[in-house]
Formats: sequence, structure tokens, C-alpha cells
Amino acid sequence: LHLERELSQLINTSEPHKTETVTKEFNDFSLLFKRFLDETGPSLSWDKIEKLPPDAVKNYDSLEVPTADIIHQMLSKLVVVKLNGGLGTSMGCHGPKSVITVRSNLTFLDLTVQQIEHLNKTYKVNVPLVLMNSFNTDEDTEKVIRKYRNLQVEIHTFNQSCYPRINSDSLMPVARTAVINQQMEAWYPPGHGDFYRSFKNSGLLDKLVNAGREYCFISNIDNLGATVDLGILNLLLNPQQPSNHEFVMEVTDKTRADVKGGTLIQYEGKLRLLEIAQVPNEHLDDFKSVKTFKYFNTNNLWIKLDAIQRVIEEDQLNMEIIVNNKTFDNGLKVIQLETAVGAAMKCFKAIGINVPRSRFLPVKKTSDLLLVMSNLYVLKNGSLAMSPQRMFATTPLVKLGDNHFSKVKDFWRRFANIPDIIELDHLTVSGDVTFGKGVSLKGTVIIIANHGDRIDIPSGACLDNKIVSGNLRI
Ligand code: UTP
Repeated sequence: LHLERELSQLINTSEPHKTETVTKEFNDFSLLFKRFLDETGPSLSWDKIEKLPPDAVKNYDSLEVPTADIIHQMLSKLVVVKLNGGLGTSMGCHGPKSVITVRSNLTFLDLTVQQIEHLNKTYKVNVPLVLMNSFNTDEDTEKVIRKYRNLQVEIHTFNQSCYPRINSDSLMPVARTAVINQQMEAWYPPGHGDFYRSFKNSGLLDKLVNAGREYCFISNIDNLGATVDLGILNLLLNPQQPSNHEFVMEVTDKTRADVKGGTLIQYEGKLRLLEIAQVPNEHLDDFKSVKTFKYFNTNNLWIKLDAIQRVIEEDQLNMEIIVNNKTFDNGLKVIQLETAVGAAMKCFKAIGINVPRSRFLPVKKTSDLLLVMSNLYVLKNGSLAMSPQRMFATTPLVKLGDNHFSKVKDFWRRFANIPDIIELDHLTVSGDVTFGKGVSLKGTVIIIANHGDRIDIPSGACLDNKIVSGNLRI
């Protein structure tokens, strides 16, 4: 009650043209917060997890790609959505993550636009690109996308919600006024699960449905493997074999490096996403087992647009709450409640598709950047593919020390250019290390500069199964 009073007082401080949106968002936020207070127990009972039915996850190899004229018809019903609410902070960048340069001087956004433009030109279609921005990214994104005006890609944007951070001790909003940019840290974008309602509220969902669009393909903007897949498109939209899948989650085989990713389970007769945050402590090891839970969610999702409309209109949208407790540098503790887009799977007629690892190529750290910028990949029409010169289909394991390499700016200072890593299996770099031009790394390479030491790998050096440490070289 106190919280609601505070929220309505905050509404009074909003700019007049925003009052309606703020009121709507605060109502949704209040409902989420009420659920958080009411739901005390775990969101699922571990013993009720069922074995995945045999037809729950389709094999990617079983998908067929039809002829160009059918592809043309199917693409006319597709919309591509990129989740673009996130910032580049974790890689030490300011502004939206999507404007970080990732390859050949092109940003995540440039690559996405190139891919879709290529698709549109090849199949003479007009697949629109929809960007879900947040209050953190919309201004910069709007500026950047002006440069795509003359390309053959129609770009639509909408904003996700802006929710108030709640002080963990008082359970009251941190914000003193609803004018967001006066106190940016008092607000947050509530996770990508916010997509459904914000897409609907923006009017864009209905507009696209009325224009004949039937499915959307949603993915993280930082997943460079998330291109439009014609086999999956065919499964959903082939006019000769109508399907009734409303929701497709692309999953991929879990390895020991991905044990924290969300997995697919069968529960109460339905497929759903299970995130690590929902797992009771005593079952964490079970959750991480790659045998029991074979797949993890790539967050590449294909969803039927009229099914989204139905689920929202019938008030059937139900996603588990992710509680994100944060502490600011000044000691202030806040709670932010979030949801994940994949968590709505259980509200739809859903299946999983076991896709190749290449469809999951996220760039979360500078070590990922090293891989995607290197000769391990070739870039064609905005898409990255593994170079045919790589002998094995696996990517090298790269670890770059957090203190010296975690920011994009530092990364660039330390690599004069990107080494040749076509034959690399494993690279560990720690401490004050720099790389000259034209360095080649093969097999397992470990470079460790101890505190106070510095190692400069000279231009043209070839390190083949080498350990370099301090001034000792083996
Ligand atoms: P994150 O970087 O936050 O998530 O966002 P993650 O660590 O990959 O893990 P998952 O996918 O959440 O499990 C992934 C994508 O979602 C967008 C980001 O911009 C990024 O493209 N995002 C995230 C939003 O659009 N809004 C949000 O509130 C959060």
C-alpha cells in the first residue's frame, strides 16, 4: 500500500506527455511486485520435472529448405526482432551494446542490417527489422539507425518498460521524480521478458499482424549466430505443410562451459525453460549435469504473432520472476524484478529444435571479440561462418585476464592486430601482456606476466604450444 502511494506520487512528477505511459508501466510494475511479495516458495517442485517427450526437441538435420519462390512467400510473413535494451557496460563501453564494433569496422547493428538487406535483396522481400530498445539505448539507437535509411531494410523500434528500482531496506522506490534522466540509476529495464507486453502496448504487434506478418524471430543482438534460418522458417510457414507450432526455442547441446545456461524441461505436461535462479540449492549439481539436462537455450525464439496477441488478451502470460539484488558503490541496496523472454514458452504450443552450436555465437567478453574478429571466421553478407581452413569444428578456448583485457579499449591497446588463431586450441593470457603485429598462436599457448612484469610478444612471433611466463621462456 505504501509502495502504491509512493508510485502514484511519482506519477504526479512525470512530464505531461508521458503520464499515460508511466501510469501503465507502474500498474504492470505493481502487479509484478505484488507477485514477488506473494510468491514465497520455489517456483517449481523439482520432483515434478518430467522426462522430455521424444518429439519435444526436433533434430535440425531433419529440416528442409524449399525452393526460392516458397522462401519468398514465407519471408513475406516474417519479422526479425532484436533485443536491444542492453548496454555495453560489461565490456567497458558506453552506450548500447549493439554499437560496439565487432568485425571489419562493423557493429552488431551494422551486421544485422546487412544480413537482412541481403535476405531482402536475394528473395525480393521486405522482412522488417524490429528493435526493442530501452530508455538506456533508444536515443543513441535512433541516431545510429538514420544511416540505414537508404538501405532495403525497413526498421521499426519500440521501447521496453522502465521500472523503478526498489530500496531493499525500505521497499520504496529509489526515484524522487519520474523524470528519468534526472536520476538514471533509479530505473531499470526489466529484462527481455518485457518484450511481449511492450511490443503489444507499442501498437507494433497489431500493426504487423494487420500487414500480414505471422511469425517473429527474436534473438539477442549480441548473438552473431542468430541469422534467419530457412529450414526453421520452412518448418513454421511452408504453405504446403501447415504447422501449429506457436513457439520454437532453438536449443543446443550443453557442454561443461555452458552449465549455467537455461535448459528445457517438461513440466505439468508442457515444455518450459528452467533457469539456474529457479533451482533449489540441493539440486544445483543435477541442473548442471550435461547428461540429465542435455540442452541449453540459445535465446533464439520463433513465435507466432497471433498467439502473442491471444496470450496477452486472455491474460495468460506468466513468466517466473528473476530477482536481481544489486548494491551500488555508495552502499545502496536495491531490488530489481526481471523476466526472461524464453520463460513464456509454457504459455504456448511449443517445441525445441536442437540447432548446431554455430547458431550461438554470443559476444559477452573481449575473449569472444578476439574469436569473432580473427581469421577463424569469414564474413559474408553480414553473417559469420567458421573458416574452411579450420581443421576442427570447435572454437578455441580463450581466457584473457580481467584486469588488463576486460575493456574493449584495453583489448585494442594490447593487440596491435588480431593474431592468426586458425590452429589455436587454447589461449590463456594473464597480466600486463601486449601483442605485436602478425603474431600467430597455435595449439596451447599460455602467457603469464606476473605482478610488476610485462611481456611484449614481438611482431611476427609464432607461438606453437608455448608457455611464456615472466622472463622465463619455455
Ligand atoms: P543480457 O546480456 O542481459 O543477457 O541480454 P545474457 O547474459 O545474454 O543472458 P540471457 O540471454 O538474458 O539469459 C541478452 C539480450 O537481451 C537484451 C540485451 O540487449 C541483449 O541483446 N536485453 C536484456 C534487453 O533488450 N532488455 C533487457 O531488459 C535485458
